Amino acid sequence: MNKKTIRDIDPAGKKVLVRVDYNVPMDGAGKITDDTRVRATLPTLRHLLDKGAAIILASHLGRPKGGPAPEFSLAPVAEHLSALLGREVLFAADCVGPAAEAAAKALKPGQVLMLENLRFHKEEEKNDPEFARQLASLADTYVNDAFGVSHRAHASVEGITKYLPAAAGFLLEKEIDFLGRAVGQPPHPYVAIIGGAKVSDKIGVIANLLTKVDTLIIGGGMANTFLAAKGYATGKSLVEADKIGLAASLIKDAAARKVNLLLPADVVVADRFAADAVHMVVAADAIPADCMALDIGPASGAAFAAALTGAKLIVWNGPMGVFEMDAFAKGTFAVAAAVAASGAVSVIGGGDSVAAIEKVGLQDKISHISTGGGASLEFLEGKVLPGVAALADK
Ligand code: 3PG
Repeated sequence: MNKKTIRDIDPAGKKVLVRVDYNVPMDGAGKITDDTRVRATLPTLRHLLDKGAAIILASHLGRPKGGPAPEFSLAPVAEHLSALLGREVLFAADCVGPAAEAAAKALKPGQVLMLENLRFHKEEEKNDPEFARQLASLADTYVNDAFGVSHRAHASVEGITKYLPAAAGFLLEKEIDFLGRAVGQPPHPYVAIIGGAKVSDKIGVIANLLTKVDTLIIGGGMANTFLAAKGYATGKSLVEADKIGLAASLIKDAAARKVNLLLPADVVVADRFAADAVHMVVAADAIPADCMALDIGPASGAAFAAALTGAKLIVWNGPMGVFEMDAFAKGTFAVAAAVAASGAVSVIGGGDSVAAIEKVGLQDKISHISTGGGASLEFLEGKVLPGVAALADK
């Protein structure tokens, strides 16, 4: 990476404001149901503490409407982090103003302070310079370890870098390293697997990856729009009628680039969108008029798995079907198992495919599971993330 990282700074005796993405799912009682994003920042935090820094953590949680909202308080996350780190995590009831200033001023090397949700101030999302300056005034140095929000030009992500020396944390560096291989100079053979409900969410990703990959596998609900572009009847399946022309031109583009484009050859169809729906496997060009495709079929799963043989790099984003329902999970799980067994460098981005790989317990077999949802999509589209661009060059 051509940006400064925490290896390039000496944090000893300094107050380091670390932007993290602790936007984690919680149940109604404020219990964190998936702490992956918190755990993923521990190497950065431990490094800074070992080097004698004091840490000020800043994050958003959810989408409060620019004012305080107790259900979006980061206090439960501070408690959880304290258990993970095995040391006290102090908490400031606001991220700027007297409470934050007093807590930051009293902070000693080796101590950790978490600020309240940045989005309790509308200035955060507006990238307000004065708000960014106030945040910056709490610390001597800034570290961005919040890949998941680095596609947002917000005050704590972008604006703050105008007021403090700014470097990437280990998590941000790792994300850019792995996702960067997917869009930079990838090793070959390179296979991308793209799924999910809607092609409209992934147009930019498909268009960009078509210029890089040897094989592009398309599954999930979005495959229906491609099947429709091939002139197949799709019954009651989810098809984006206004994207059929685009799907047709992506098919053409793949052929022109000699990219091996794989669509499902068979699908699991059901009479309705329900876990207990009557379902069966049919050829992709024989979807009955009163049925909808909710998963790829076994022949497609096998063909997709075979296409991974010998791959050096695999990028997977989006499930192959409605894997939350057992009857329509087999395609996604077959692909998950094949990616895990491939021996390739494997990168998974996007919330749903991450949930799928965790459901089958194969996450340890994946080279990199991105902590970013929207951020990893924008990165795979080839966009420059404002939070990364703003960091100091090496
Ligand atoms: C995410 O969960 O994708 C990030 O935390 C960004 O959240 P946002 O979409 O609310 O900006």
